[in-house]
Amino acid sequence: ENIIVSPGARFSIFTAITTLLNPGDEMVVIEPAWPAYKDCALNSGIKVRTINTSFENKWEPSIEQIENTINPNTKMIVLNYPNNPTGKILPEKLQDQIIEIAKKNNLYVLSDEIYSEYVKSSWKSILSYNYEKSIVTQSFSKSHAMTGFRVGYAIADASIIEKMAKLEALCLTNVSEPIQYIAMKALEADTSNNNKTVQSRLDVLIQKANEMNLDIVVPDGAMYIFARVNKEGFDGVQFANSTLEKGLAVAPGEGFGDYKNFIRISACQDEKTLIEGMNILKEIMSEDQ
Ligand SMILES: Cc1ncc(COP(=O)(O)O)c(C=O)c1O
Repeated sequence: ENIIVSPGARFSIFTAITTLLNPGDEMVVIEPAWPAYKDCALNSGIKVRTINTSFENKWEPSIEQIENTINPNTKMIVLNYPNNPTGKILPEKLQDQIIEIAKKNNLYVLSDEIYSEYVKSSWKSILSYNYEKSIVTQSFSKSHAMTGFRVGYAIADASIIEKMAKLEALCLTNVSEPIQYIAMKALEADTSNNNKTVQSRLDVLIQKANEMNLDIVVPDGAMYIFARVNKEGFDGVQFANSTLEKGLAVAPGEGFGDYKNFIRISACQDEKTLIEGMNILKEIMSEDQ
């Protein structure tokens, strides 16, 4: 009664936001952020208040920023640590303080923890706070590299799961049964090497980024580096479109908030391919000088 299986974490995020909030309610998103939180809210007439974090502050929001963003209409705060795109994990004390603020203001905490198995050192789930208004999302897309199977889940209080289940049943009845059996079988697999593999790929990206004119905060987890390109007038969208022709795919920072001079580089390829990609990037950057 505390779990709902959904076609990817994405759909649990959609049902949580859509069922728990009403038009006119407000939701807080800490940017840079995966864009779907905002899009789900806007789709349901929910107002989004964004908190901008910066490279200089190591992608950490301040308590003042959070407190100043909350008003009587605020009903939910979204957390995503380890973060896409920055790989950030909040210091434990800061995370504790954010949960305290959420409790004080009676906010739902939607904690998207799908990268929880990809961490360098310590990480603490929002579940450990036993807060009855928290919703945690997880996904086989990341934990078992099964993105195409479209299966994930959410963990929350039974009353929350019940609301989400009603909307899921309305939209799609259920996640296909064979896919659920595959996911159950996958739970028996030993995935302990996946984290090591991704961390060593990230090390390759970090080393290569350091050889170029790219600024990064070394990620604490997840599968990405979010790099600042130090060029005047740099436009990530244009850049990402132009690199495609040269065989390199990066995501523009603008997709994650007001981060025009950033690009996100993903570690989801083998090391040889990542090195080739970073060499293409290096070449493009030196051509543009
Ligand atoms: C932070 C975050 N949440 C959710 C998702 C979606 O996951 P799923 O494939 O389970 O829908 C992604 C996909 O990349 C993501 O980066």
